[in-house]
Amino acid sequence: MIPDAAHQFIEFLRRHDDQAWGDIVASLLPDVHEVDRHALRVWFAFHPVKLFRMLTEDEARAQRDCLLRGRYHLRDQVHTSHRFFYGHRYWPKVQQAVLTDLKTPPRTSLESHIRQAARRTGVAPDLALGITAVAYATLQQVGLEAFKTPPPPIAAQPLEPAYVVAERRRPEPHSLWDRLLRSEINQTYTIRFDETDPAAAFKAICGQTLTMAAGQMPNAAAFREKDPRCVAGPIPVECQTGSCGTCWIGILSGEENLNAITPFEVTRLAKIGYPYDGTSHPIIRLGCKSICAGRVSLVIPPWNGVLANWDKPPFRGQAHKDLSPEQVPVGYDNGHAR
Ligand code: FES
Repeated sequence: MIPDAAHQFIEFLRRHDDQAWGDIVASLLPDVHEVDRHALRVWFAFHPVKLFRMLTEDEARAQRDCLLRGRYHLRDQVHTSHRFFYGHRYWPKVQQAVLTDLKTPPRTSLESHIRQAARRTGVAPDLALGITAVAYATLQQVGLEAFKTPPPPIAAQPLEPAYVVAERRRPEPHSLWDRLLRSEINQTYTIRFDETDPAAAFKAICGQTLTMAAGQMPNAAAFREKDPRCVAGPIPVECQTGSCGTCWIGILSGEENLNAITPFEVTRLAKIGYPYDGTSHPIIRLGCKSICAGRVSLVIPPWNGVLANWDKPPFRGQAHKDLSPEQVPVGYDNGHAR
């Protein structure tokens, strides 16, 4: 039985939609340590309230119309969805700070609750703030019973946050051989796709798309065992043409080392329903449209789907030959779901 104060708190949290969370995140960001600034925005892109509300309202329709694939329930990843944060190592303390906050009904703005709980962890506030916001957003979606389950032991590399930031900025170390004999366009760059695993990286040749480079990893086929969406390397792919949205990624660092986003990719992000921040080098990209010219650290979302179809459901069983390309829902070419 959920105590009344906790119940009121979760009701209060559930009044916050993606717009409200976007405002809170924007206000918190200047006070979040650089090591987790991109991670915070990426997490909220990967776990939107809209997806949670769709699944709550009609999961069967969400699955069918929005072509959801992968692990899209946050409740299955309560203690792991934020592994890519430096602050993930403080999760047990953050969880306790949030649970303490639930002992009294909400009394101020959610942003104030987040800031107070971050201070209560005893961790440097700039390192605790981002992961604390994630904790409240997780609680909103998964409920108290799932949120308060004990987290598994967390093994984090004992690295200072400043070191992690400096390491991300470090240019690719090229050998003398590379520098003398290779032109710039033949240089290769390291693309990391899981900062918690030093082996989780592949090489991309300058000018290659991220998905193409990932598909050429020596063990590219092995990723399918962990995630059936990964047919060629660690980034899930399908069309390789920017149409389906399967290959979306978050960027932790090195977004400036990718090509500037094109109007086509912006249009596809909107049509699929993934966020776009309006910049030339956003931190949510389509991997098959991201062309590499330097080191990048990225995060692979646990799911993909066409959220925009929730608001504009496809016309099932009806041919789309009379519709303009802009009117045909993503994944429903010629009247057939892919
Ligand atoms: S694989 Fe389909 S959009 Fe990139």
